Amino acid sequence: MENKERIGLYPGTFDPITRGHIDIICRAAKIVDKLVIGVAKSSGKGPLFDTHTRVAMVKREVNALPCHANIEVVAFENLLMHFARKVGASVIVRGLRAVSDFEYEIQMAAMNYRMYPDIETVYLSATEGTQFVASSFVKEIARLGGDVRPFVSDAIANDLEECFKTEKGCRKVKPVVRD
Ligand code: COA
Repeated sequence: MENKERIGLYPGTFDPITRGHIDIICRAAKIVDKLVIGVAKSSGKGPLFDTHTRVAMVKREVNALPCHANIEVVAFENLLMHFARKVGASVIVRGLRAVSDFEYEIQMAAMNYRMYPDIETVYLSATEGTQFVASSFVKEIARLGGDVRPFVSDAIANDLEECFKTEKGCRKVKPVVRD
């Protein structure tokens, strides 16, 4: 029998990475041999942090996790399914929080499947405490001076604080990465 490594791809914008994303990452890492976190450029979403910064933030978060051994963080800006093939993924992992996520996710999965039926999309339902977390709300709360620590790590909360207090803007933030 062929003993092929199962590679999963968890794509997202991660602007910024939240406790909800971390929940999905740790659980996904348990069901695949290797998990690639694909940080999308997503220029259409006008991200607060540039791609390089978001990759560094995700790496720093992942390095602090007990489950980090089989996780790799890579930026991408092409079609998701082309990137999935490039990294050898057979599974795309997405998190589902509420019914509102469902329509968009099903549509995206169906179109991706139509293009590449050899790659499956699987969904992990967000755990109870993270069902309501969204990066855009986190940014809004931080911008207005609220405490975002219930939703993101202390390090990300500090990055956001820095970002909104400096006149240079968020794209200049360079989070420290501990390898
Ligand atoms: N916990 C917390 N938040 C979650 C979450 C979870 N479990 N799951 C999703 N979210 C939130 C994110 O915070 C984000 O919030 P926001 O919209 O308020 O910023 C939102 O849900 C969705 O973000 P994310 O999961 O990062 O995905 P995305 O929709 O930004 O990116 C891609 C989706 C990158 C997978 C998609 O755009 C893509 O494939 N792009 C590449 C181009 C391509 O192939 N396009 C064709 C697609 S058919």
